[in-house]
Amino acid sequence: MSFYVTTPIYYVNAEPHLGHAYTTIAADVLARHMRQRREDVFFLTGTDEHGEPVADAAHAQGLEPKELADRNAERFKALMPRLGVSNDFFIRTSDEGHELRVQEVLQRVHDNGYTYKGLYEGWYCPRCADFKVENEILEGCLCPIHEIPLERHQEENWFFRLSAFQEALERLYAERPDFVMPPRHFNEARAFIAQGLQDVSLSRERLKWGVTVPWDVGHVFYVWFDALLNYYTALGYARPGEDLTGRFWPATYHIIGKDILKFHTVFWPALLMAAELALPHHVFVHGFLLGADGRKMSKSLGNVLDPFQVMEELGDDALRFYLMRDVAFGADGTVGMDAVRMRYDAELANEYGNLASRTIAMVQRYRDGIVPGVATDPELDVELEGLPQDVAALMDRAQPTQALELIWQRVRRLNRYVEERAPWQLARDPADTAKLDEALASLVEGLRTVNTLLHPFMPATTDKLRAALGAPGAEVTSLEPLFPKRG
Ligand code: MSP
Repeated sequence: MSFYVTTPIYYVNAEPHLGHAYTTIAADVLARHMRQRREDVFFLTGTDEHGEPVADAAHAQGLEPKELADRNAERFKALMPRLGVSNDFFIRTSDEGHELRVQEVLQRVHDNGYTYKGLYEGWYCPRCADFKVENEILEGCLCPIHEIPLERHQEENWFFRLSAFQEALERLYAERPDFVMPPRHFNEARAFIAQGLQDVSLSRERLKWGVTVPWDVGHVFYVWFDALLNYYTALGYARPGEDLTGRFWPATYHIIGKDILKFHTVFWPALLMAAELALPHHVFVHGFLLGADGRKMSKSLGNVLDPFQVMEELGDDALRFYLMRDVAFGADGTVGMDAVRMRYDAELANEYGNLASRTIAMVQRYRDGIVPGVATDPELDVELEGLPQDVAALMDRAQPTQALELIWQRVRRLNRYVEERAPWQLARDPADTAKLDEALASLVEGLRTVNTLLHPFMPATTDKLRAALGAPGAEVTSLEPLFPKRG
């Protein structure tokens, strides 16, 4: 089966931060898990480069928008391997391949009669040469940048007939209760549609930094339409000389944050219908990472958890583990450096790392490194049975936090098993040889199982342990602490 997973594409006017890392890591965990299951996986991430905020940020720095985009897209691209992220392609909306395909799809939307020219009216700043949206306007109707009075202006825009899809969207939500997940966000999207849909602006006339409207070249497409289409366009040119659309379209999961719900759960399916393209299977909406003060993280509030600090202090896998473990995927959650350190000490170093090192050390001490080729303990087998299937079922529903919890219960179970069997005591009495063989074989096999299931969450660490455990029947090799104790 094919499995196509996407992240939102990131605005290049800001620096990469924890929110970006979060969505990307979650999508990566799903992609890696599906690859382990031998599904045909395509995992896409990238940058959203057009639109006014990027053009404004560039001009403020004395740069052309493309120069700023080039510079910042590189930083997002470099972030991916740093996070252990295994994306199959990195799309930039300034790619020619993307622009051509955006034009092709939106031309079809136009030809199908879902566009019209209309008047856009809004508050305009003559110095910015730009419209301001309601929530950025300062009190007294002033420009947020120049603090001068805004003027009421009108501009001719192309509009997208979103209202034409009112019934089709209602039907979609009636027929497919898992189109948007989790249910809270399905309900939110449905309620939004139920209020009645208004047509939306599809193009901008004054702006130059965007994809040209092919049937009216003085206009560029409104950035959200250009951006949403990345999920489709990438498949057309990600592999030179090959079109992956037939193999991967439509997406299995679009992973998004809750702030961009309306675009992905209302505009996006309507746009796809207008272009006669198949709709995604699921849009999964995750929550916000909040600062220790319970507010959405933001630089100005100073409540930010810096992903680079976590990676430097505790390692990349610790960051991945922490984000998937501490905040239930799909809900909001508070994050902070103290909590990362607590999870690191209690779970990564003391539970998993310790289980790994003592299992290997005992096989070396008592059996010269050779894992006894005997049957595993049926008592323990029962408790590990069905785990891979249970984890797979949760991952199918994009529930990495719950999957990780199931795996972790077994990590703890294995540690208790060490205490129960106390191999160091069995080793004292030759009469207990068979019991010791069974205990060691069971520990190694149990560890191998949890380690494999943990791979999508912590790829580098689990690779190390896998190599140290060797193939069944082979020799185990010594292992540096996977998560060294902090000084
Ligand atoms: N460019 C648009 C998306 C276009 S997709 C066709 C965009 N970019 S963004 O860079 O601002 O945000 C990308 C994602 O990061 C969003 O899904 C957003 O929810 C997520 N996060 C940004 N801050 C966040 C937190 N504090 N917590 C969790 N994720 C948040 O929106």
